[in-house]
Parts: sequence; C-alpha cells; structure tokens
Amino acid sequence: MTHIPFLWVRPFAGILVGFFCFQPLSFASDYSKPVSNITLEDKLNFKVGEAIFQKFWVASPSSTTASDGLGPLYNARSCHSCHINNGRGHPPNAGISGSSVPSFFVRFGRTYPADTDFTSRIYPHLGDPKYGHQLQGQSSAGIQPEGDYHLSYTEKVEVLADGSQVNLRTPNLHWDQLYYGDLDKRTGISMLVAPSLVGMGLLDAVTDDTIAANADPKDANNDGISGRVSWVRTGTNTPPVVGRFGYKASSPTVSAQNQQAFNIDMGLSTPLMPYASGDCTGYQVHCLTSPNGNSAHLDNLEVDKKQMHLVDLFVSLSAPPAMRNLSSSTFLEGKTLFENTGCASCHTPKMQTGTNSPFSELNQRTFYPFTDLLLHDMGPGLASEFPSFSASPSEWRTAPLWGIGLSESVSGRVGFLHDGRARTIEEAILWHGGEAKQSQMAYKNLKKEHREKLIYFLESL
Ligand code: HEC
Ligand code: HEC
Repeated sequence: MTHIPFLWVRPFAGILVGFFCFQPLSFASDYSKPVSNITLEDKLNFKVGEAIFQKFWVASPSSTTASDGLGPLYNARSCHSCHINNGRGHPPNAGISGSSVPSFFVRFGRTYPADTDFTSRIYPHLGDPKYGHQLQGQSSAGIQPEGDYHLSYTEKVEVLADGSQVNLRTPNLHWDQLYYGDLDKRTGISMLVAPSLVGMGLLDAVTDDTIAANADPKDANNDGISGRVSWVRTGTNTPPVVGRFGYKASSPTVSAQNQQAFNIDMGLSTPLMPYASGDCTGYQVHCLTSPNGNSAHLDNLEVDKKQMHLVDLFVSLSAPPAMRNLSSSTFLEGKTLFENTGCASCHTPKMQTGTNSPFSELNQRTFYPFTDLLLHDMGPGLASEFPSFSASPSEWRTAPLWGIGLSESVSGRVGFLHDGRARTIEEAILWHGGEAKQSQMAYKNLKKEHREKLIYFLESL
C-alpha cells in the first residue's frame, strides 16, 4: 500500500473504511517529497532531478556549459521560478509589469469562428506568426524581449441563496509594449498561472482506457455533464493520442510537457524539442541566429537525455501530500456535501494506475487526485480565446484538487483556476459555469455552515 490515504474504497458509499500511512504524517508545506515506495537508486536521482528543476540557467556563451543555453527569449530562468516549491504561481497585481511575475504568462493561439465544431476535429496549436506560442518578456543580452503588459481586474458580486455576497474578479490584459509589431488578427490570448506539480507520474500512469471509460461525450446518462477525452497529435502524420497535462490536457506525457516547458518557457533544446532558439519565430532573425548552448557532450543539445530523465523522474515521483483531518466529523460531512453538490462527477476522487509506467514505483497504485482528466465546458466566463487541439475555448481539464489546502503554505501567494483569478477556493467554485453550473448553484444554495464544511474538506485534501 502507499502513503496515500485509503479513503474512497467505494467512492460514493460515504464510508470511511480505513487509512494507511507508512510515511510519517507530515503537515509540512512540502510538495517535493518522493512517493513512499521509491527505490534507493531513484531516491538519489530524485534529489539530482530536483536540483535541475531548481537551478537557474544562464545564457550562452558562458563559462558553465552545464547550465547554459537559456533563451534567447524566455519567461523564467528555472522551473522553480514558476512552480514555486513545486507548487502553484500567482497572477500579477493590477498595474504592475506582467513580465516581472514569471509564474504567470500569456499564451497565443489561433482563433476559430464560434460555430466551429471542436468535438470532431483536432486543431493543431498554432501560435502567433511573429511572437510564437507565448509572450516572452525576458531575453538574453542583445536580443529584444517581446513586450510587456499589465492587468486590471473587474470586480463583480455573486449573491448566494442566503444573501451573502462574494466578490469575483476578472483579469483584463493591457499591452504596454509589443516590440515586434502587432499581433496577427487571428491571434487569441490565454492567461495561465503555473499549476502545482504533485502526483504527475500517477496521472501519467493511468491507462487511456481508464480515462476513456469515464467519458460521456454525448451526455448519454443525461446528468448535464459530458466529459470528453482530449485528443492531441504529437506530429503531423501521427495518430491522435490521449492528452492529460496542461489546463487543456494538451500534452500526452509528463516528459512531453517537461520538454515543452524547457523549450518554450526557457528556450532550451531537449531530445523531443531540439530547437536551441526555443520560441523564436522566423520574424525574429536575430533571435534565431544568436549563440546557443548546444554542446557535443550533451548530444548537441542544451538539456540532454540524461538530464531530461532526471527532471522527468523528479516531477513524476513527487508525491501528493497525505490528506489531513480524516477523523474529524467536519471532514466527513464536507465529503458528503462534495458528493451531494455534484463535485465528484468531474473531480473523481479515486483513480488507479496501470502497469506501464516508466517508473515501476507507480504501477498498480490507487490514488486520490479528484480529477477525471477529461475536458468539460466551463461556460463563457472562463473561456480562452482559442482552442487547443480538440479542447474548445470554454473546455478545460478538471483540475486535480489534491494538496489544494496546502497551496498557500507551499508557495506563499496563490491564485486558483487556470489564470489564478480566484483568490479563494470559494471564488473558484463560484466561477464554475457550463456543465458545472448545476453544481455551482447547489453550492450557492448551501447554508453557510455547510459551505464552510465543504471548504474545510477541500482544504484537508
Ligand atoms: C514561465 C513559467 C513556467 C516555467 C518556467 C515552467 N512552467 Fe511548467 N507550467 C506552467 C504553466 C502556466 C503550466 C500550464 C500549461 C498549460 O496549461 O498548457 C505548466 C504546466 C506544467 C506541467 C503540467 C501540470 C499539469 O497539471 O498538467 C508540468 C508537468 C510542468 N509544467 C513541468 C515544468 C518543468 C519540468 C519545468 C522546467 C523545465 C517547467 N514546468 C517550467 C508554467 C511554467
Ligand atoms: C463539470 C465538471 C466540474 C464540476 C461538476 C465541478 N468542477 Fe471544479 N473544476 C472543473 C474544471 C474543468 C476546473 C478547472 C477550471 C479552470 O481552470 O478554469 C475546476 C476547478 C476547480 C477548482 C480550482 C482548482 C485549482 O487548482 O485552481 C476548485 C477548488 C474546484 N473546481 C472545486 C469544485 C467543487 C467544490 C465543485 C462542486 C461544488 C466542483 N468543483 C464541481 C470541473 C468541475
């Protein structure tokens, strides 16, 4: 058994059956502990992988060929700058330079007409012709950064059934500079905050069949909820595969996601993405031709296969924190409210891995992520301006809820939902629309005391 609480033996039976924890129960705000059954060899590699995750890369040429190659355009110098302590980031406060907050960024994508059928086609992710996939506000010496922006927030009031009021805020983006000219008129934007990274290897090790078994694309059971598998392509002529990482489930594996992060967020070449100039486009000639850190001893890459394996190992084997307060009656009442308000229809409490993980520790494990890894339409209030593969603008992957109660103690300041707009868990719930509208209404109709119990439960995850 694992250190993960063995709670949802039958997810909705509502019976607390037991709970094993072979790792000392620690409430330390730490998302960077390895899974409990890690082998000795992997334990050592986990530490080395963590060091690469945390290290600051530098631009080329430099005296340190082991850590150079950053940029020429980049969002941050380390994975850790965004995934603070392996946890989540936060959006910039109103008015301040967006580029000064690395853990939040602006992604670009090609817009499609509103009547496009996103359910039957896979739209490759095309960025802006000049700016590429993301706005990079940082650059190495001699290269023009792409620009800067600031946010303002519009506040609105949501009134609950008992008359209490909750303020919700919507971020609005204002460009301060765009140094390479205007964006293409077909380019849309999406603002994203770095998510926390616990349990990634477990999600990776769930089989495609398990994910597909929970999907109900045509809402055959008539519950108003129609989770769809996110189909993505990794090459032009390759068959579609199941996407599961990123807010729109657009990456198929932990390694693919990590390599994309190295390449697009930091401008480093990797085995899958061997482009030393990262997100530079054909319009950014200077950027394309500036020195890079590809080195013979790293297979002519900046991040070679060995380093990639170590980072993949660290990210994959970071354990979800153990649940807390399991024996409290408030926790149990909160859990029942979670089920009764329909949250568990998407935030699936319990999952199981298959037998094919690249890390043997992760095979055949039962765990509690509170996600179905499917796409759900969350309504216009949360929509991005462009699709990502088969995910329409308003579809998002159900956010895992494990560890959510520790977010603030791990990362300091936090923001919930894909763009970090929600300052509290309650605000995040109140933003739920589309397929989750019924569930949001059920929450709004709860008595104060019950809302508090539900939040207490979530904060114990
Ligand atoms: C500039 C900020 C930034 C940096 C640097 C960054 N990330 Fe991320 N990361 C994000 C954001 C934002 C997302 C969500 C992306 C999406 O939805 O497509 C993300 C998503 C992820 C995910 C998927 C999480 C999930 O729940 O599906 C993994 C894994 C990940 N990053 C690993 C890394 C690694 C490893 C590095 C360093 C090589 C890194 N990231 C660097 C911001 C960052
Ligand atoms: C129809 C599916 C669905 C239902 C039902 C649903 N959610 Fe969600 N939930 C999502 C999706 C998808 C997201 C991610 C949205 C985003 O990032 O914009 C999310 C995000 C969240 C978040 C923010 C997580 C984070 O890390 O930022 C919380 C908290 C949350 N849900 C709690 C709840 C609760 C509590 C309920 C029941 C009252 C509920 N959800 C019902 C699909 C659902």
